[in-house]
Amino acid sequence: MASIGHATLLFCVLLFTVSGARASDPELTKEFSVPPGVDASQLNGNYFTYTGFRGGVSTAPGETGSKKATVTEFPALDGLGISFFLMSFAPGGVLPPHLHPRGSKLIYMIQGTLTVGFMDSNHKLYNSTLEEGDLYVVPRALVHYMANLDGDKVTKVIFAFSSSNPGSIRLPENLFGSNIPAKVLKKSFGVSGKVIEELEAPFYKNTTGDYH
Ligand SMILES: *[C@@H]1O[C@H](CO)[C@@H](O)[C@H](O)[C@H]1NC(C)=O
Ligand SMILES: *[C@@H]1O[C@H](CO)[C@@H](O)[C@H](O)[C@H]1NC(C)=O
Repeated sequence: MASIGHATLLFCVLLFTVSGARASDPELTKEFSVPPGVDASQLNGNYFTYTGFRGGVSTAPGETGSKKATVTEFPALDGLGISFFLMSFAPGGVLPPHLHPRGSKLIYMIQGTLTVGFMDSNHKLYNSTLEEGDLYVVPRALVHYMANLDGDKVTKVIFAFSSSNPGSIRLPENLFGSNIPAKVLKKSFGVSGKVIEELEAPFYKNTTGDYH
């Protein structure tokens, strides 16, 4: 019995250690990361230059547009714990509630205004209306939203993350586009199946049949 207890404890400790390690980029034990199969002596300044942001980012009316430089687009970021996005919000553009499991986010305002907010685990809202030149920080893994609700000017911002691969979980898709049984959603939100169907409609993939 005692050995089973110890095994369980060891398993829990291991699980905690592994998930803790995954919460941020692994430590780099050299100056920078060299992609597998690449001869380090062949690397030059181009490897550390990302040109994907040239021309900025365009936005359809009422929408948001983005360009990103995470470790996927810019391999030199591997192990450095940083990444960078350019975002553009047309008037009426909304970034729905979402979270980044692996990175805190700094938002720097280049142009326009932005309505932002995040919520803590007590459901307290920390909102703000950002103006050109402002900096706002969203702590890692907290749900937040952003919108250009003001006027007719495009809003341009930079996101800087404390991870080379911050990830993103968008709540509308996560809750209503993942085929959670409707009975669970109805009880969780205290609404009818009709309401759940409406919320699922934009994401419905017809994979589990009718469970309403
Ligand atoms: C924050 O949200 C509250 C409630 O919606 C609103 O009254 C207030 O004006 C907002 N504050 C800022 C700075 O946007
Ligand atoms: C999904 O189900 C809806 C409702 O039954 C149907 O109208 C639609 O054609 C289906 N879509 C696909 C891709 O099967």
